[in-house]
Amino acid sequence: MIKEYITSNKDRFLNELFDWLRIPSVSADSKHKTDVRKAAEFLKEKFIAAGVDKVEICETAGHPIVYAEKIINASLPTVLVYGHYDVQPADPLNLWNSPPFEPVIKNDKIYARGACDDKGQVYMHVKAFEIMMKLNILPCNVKFMVEGEEEIGSDNLGVFVEKNKSKLKADVILISDTALISLENPSITVGLRGLSYMEVEVTGPNRDLHSGVYGGAVANPINTLCSMIASLHDENGRVNVPGFYEKVAALSAADREALNKAPFNLNDYKKDLSIDDIKGEHGYSTLERTGTRPTLDVNGIWGGYTGEGAKTVLPSKAFAKISMRLVPNQVSDEITQLFAKHFESIAPKYVKVKVSALHGGEPAVTATDSKAFSAASKAFEEVWGKTPIPTRDGGSIPIVALFKKELGLDTVLMGFGLDSDAIHSPNEHYGVKNFLLGIETIVTFYKVFAKP
Ligand code: BES
Ligand code: MN
Ligand code: MN
Repeated sequence: MIKEYITSNKDRFLNELFDWLRIPSVSADSKHKTDVRKAAEFLKEKFIAAGVDKVEICETAGHPIVYAEKIINASLPTVLVYGHYDVQPADPLNLWNSPPFEPVIKNDKIYARGACDDKGQVYMHVKAFEIMMKLNILPCNVKFMVEGEEEIGSDNLGVFVEKNKSKLKADVILISDTALISLENPSITVGLRGLSYMEVEVTGPNRDLHSGVYGGAVANPINTLCSMIASLHDENGRVNVPGFYEKVAALSAADREALNKAPFNLNDYKKDLSIDDIKGEHGYSTLERTGTRPTLDVNGIWGGYTGEGAKTVLPSKAFAKISMRLVPNQVSDEITQLFAKHFESIAPKYVKVKVSALHGGEPAVTATDSKAFSAASKAFEEVWGKTPIPTRDGGSIPIVALFKKELGLDTVLMGFGLDSDAIHSPNEHYGVKNFLLGIETIVTFYKVFAKP
């Protein structure tokens, strides 16, 4: 019955999602502020059409949160679905094969910014809910909280959660915002990394100088920034910030073995990225490096002249955005402090440095011995015919740790994307098959989870 409903409504589901994807809800860009709100209002209307009995657009100091619920019986369990309707900026635009906010299907994949991260995955939940309402099979209560600031650090969501603990009372959090190993190897994410995101500014002389008149006699802040950055890793690929590894939880031999059992083919991995070799911390496999080890990466670096042609200049300033991915039991604020202290300490006398923290979030490991996790696992078995493999993802969803801390709730990370979906990149896409199977898996999750 569920399968038939999905098949016969497939085109409408996709068309609705396309309408949503056409709204450029880029949270980082103030030019898109009204688009972000439009995307929230669009979602509100779809919740109403699907049959919620309450929906509200909750104002925050930033972009609004869409909250909806259907309470069928207070004595039944409650699932709280979290997701985000904001998307990453689409640039560089010239690298897209079709415009980012004009969704198209090519080779059975939906191409658009947000197709996978996270509008496409949130929309599976809206449609799963519609199906359960229309077929009269919703077996428990459901609440939805969909925010518009995930891609910029969820600052106001923390405040909202703190202030609305009783509204958000639930038995489990369900999130689709992660990836599967592959369509052949379904998986459930059980770990996410945390984040400390910094910006650094290195200042040399008080003004831009002629690089011939002064070059060689006055320090160039871009050169200096590059040496400072280069010193942040040692020859074994470890991060050179004192205290950085102090709290890192060591994995047991059994955990490592389990993690490395997940299917992974290094040749395919390299081929997919057009690289001849990989690079990372010595002594760890690729899956361990992304899933269980902390890292430091420069996300952007700028300064001086970057326009057309050549301009001879010794710039006054250089900048970089540097992020660190964190693992249990590192604490974002502590790592931020350690980094700031270290970066200031390695600055040579001939420059001044300013270090600021942009945002952060804590790592999370989710429960695998819960009723909700086994329901998710069974749902995959029923729909995909395979037991899902537990995996640790390298990305971050800071709210997962916060849900545990503030609401005491465990999260099930039932994501249906693929690493190759190009999230945050040009040509982001999401498989139509992932979308449709995801809807079916979600409906099945409710069925199994709510069984007494
Ligand atoms: N959905 C991603 C996180 C993700 C992607 C987790 C793939 C696991 C697999 C999320 O939207 C995201 O991009 N998060 C940011 C963190 C945020 C604080 C900006 C990230 O990981 O960079
Ligand atoms: Mn996301
Ligand atoms: Mn994202």
